[in-house]
Amino acid sequence: MTERLADGPAGIARAAGLLRAGELVAFGTETVYGLGADATNARAVASVFEAKGRPHFNPLICHYPAAEAAFANVAPSEAARRLAAAFWPGPLTMVLPRRATCPVALLTGAGLDTLAVRVPAHATALALLRATDRPVAAPSANRSGHVSPTTAAHVLDGLEGRIAAVLDSGPCPVGVESTVLDLAGPRPILLRPGGLTREAIEAVVGPIQRGRTPAAEPALRSPGMQVSHYAPALPVRLDATEATIRDALLAFGPPLPGAGAVFQLSAAADLTEAAANLFEGLRRLDADGERLGLAQIAVMRVPDTGLGLAINDRLQRAAAPRPAAHALTPER
Ligand code: TXA
Ligand code: MG
Repeated sequence: MTERLADGPAGIARAAGLLRAGELVAFGTETVYGLGADATNARAVASVFEAKGRPHFNPLICHYPAAEAAFANVAPSEAARRLAAAFWPGPLTMVLPRRATCPVALLTGAGLDTLAVRVPAHATALALLRATDRPVAAPSANRSGHVSPTTAAHVLDGLEGRIAAVLDSGPCPVGVESTVLDLAGPRPILLRPGGLTREAIEAVVGPIQRGRTPAAEPALRSPGMQVSHYAPALPVRLDATEATIRDALLAFGPPLPGAGAVFQLSAAADLTEAAANLFEGLRRLDADGERLGLAQIAVMRVPDTGLGLAINDRLQRAAAPRPAAHALTPER
């Protein structure tokens, strides 16, 4: 039911045609696969929430082929212009005030007067955005509350039959979502750590504040940031210093001995490699856990520097107490 489109001019043209017709098409970016819809078409955007099973209308990110196209829809601050020059295309999402002329459906931004915009650093995604010639709203292409997809197979795991097509551009090189930065107010606020490091941003705009902790004010600035948001099926234990035969170990560097299954994020303890492997690792360990009857995913400590901040944010969400709905509706 869901078309699998190969990367290349024909697949891109088909994907763009489907998007322009109001259909949902998942596509790869440098971070994760997005579930794309024409952002100017409120019906198409509504069907994104439906396909994902998102319980609330959390605001979506709009994707553009270039900064000029994004800034035609939102009004950039001086800092936003500098960040765009430095990091776009790239894994940075900026929240900015909508312009009065912005054609993006209000539902895309969940009715807020701001809009999250980004230009992905990915040749296929950029070609698709150019061919579509409309802002494309795209949350991560997973069922709500589950692990983000970094391959077309992951997308189909959750959304087969629920979306028109997936444009398969292979694995996503960065592997964690974009960094979300609120630039609508007087000072930049980091709403979600992600593929662009805080250090890189601060080198351009100076010190930035953290908008929330996973437990605090989740609904306030970034309504999509539920605490338990990246939940594998198995419970998750962080900062493991030992492992037993009942543990599925997510290793970073030399693995702890004794686990029932091991997924190596990065043998060399490289944070970029670990970020790229993160969601694949959680999925694999879940599958191993089911097959082998394991009790828990045990996660070795990852340092909180550079991409480690984004990795730990996702891992803390994976380990957070689950809302009851997750327990009742296992996805896979
Ligand atoms: O890397 C990514 O950003 C991927 C790819 C597909 O581009 N997309 C993605 O989208 O992760 P999503 O919907 O899973 O996450 C969007 C995040 C949510 O936490 C949402 O609450 C926040 O951005 N967001 C969107 N619009 C916002 C706004 N106007 N104000 C504050 N937060 C906003
Ligand atoms: Mg997501």
